[in-house]
Amino acid sequence: MIKLNNVSKIYNKGKDNEVIALDNACVEIIAGSSVAIMGVSGSGKSTMLNIIGCLDVMTSGEYCIGDKEVATLKSNELAEIRNAKIGFVLQENALINSESVYENVKLPLCFSKKYKIKEFKKRVLEVLKSLNIDSLYKRKVRDLSGGQRQRVAIARALVNDPDIILADEPTSALDSKTASEIIAIFKDLQGEGKTIIIVTHDKRVADQLDRTVYIKDGLLSDIDVI
Ligand SMILES: Nc1ncnc2c1ncn2[C@@H]1O[C@H](COP(=O)(O)OP(=O)(O)O)[C@@H](O)[C@H]1O
Ligand SMILES: [Mg+2]
Repeated sequence: MIKLNNVSKIYNKGKDNEVIALDNACVEIIAGSSVAIMGVSGSGKSTMLNIIGCLDVMTSGEYCIGDKEVATLKSNELAEIRNAKIGFVLQENALINSESVYENVKLPLCFSKKYKIKEFKKRVLEVLKSLNIDSLYKRKVRDLSGGQRQRVAIARALVNDPDIILADEPTSALDSKTASEIIAIFKDLQGEGKTIIIVTHDKRVADQLDRTVYIKDGLLSDIDVI
């Protein structure tokens, strides 16, 4: 269970360029469910996802993952949650283009204790195979198609076998057929028991998930306020 209670994020607090990117957000996300976060550009979607993914810290409020309150965790405990429990598919997928598929997907293993060094290759190839891209493992990311790159980004998010998968607009740069394939991958992962949270502009994506949370000017709603 993921629970946000009155979570706010204020950039440049107290200055004249202050932005309330998230305004007293309250939401509970049940483990194993899938949720879409929708809203126009600048509404606070990435801010919310980054806080859920422990990539960013909230200004105020309470955020719990399972029985752990994130604000009370020591930095090593937080790093452990971020590496082992959460898989993040970043906006624009943030891969290292000059490196191979293998090196990109291996990277998070180096920051986690979940797998031993001698298991790395087997683990990476196992994840690549589950996404049907094992034959690409030596290729440089820059030589891949958009859909292939997105699969690599998902593989990287999955390599530590996280419980929670977060994805920031994972289909925005894809044609509709490739987008459907990528969403099918997320649905399969939910079928394996993972919690899926996807920021999207695309209603067809949101419609395939259990629930949609709408966000406008940092305010959350369960009804469409966009
Ligand atoms: N690092 C930052 N510093 C200042 N303002 C920011 C920063 N990141 C985001 N913002 C502002 O916070 C608001 C929400 O941004 P964001 O969460 O990226 O929106 P979305 O992902 O919905 O497009 C926007 O007004 C944006 O300009
Ligand atoms: Mg964004």
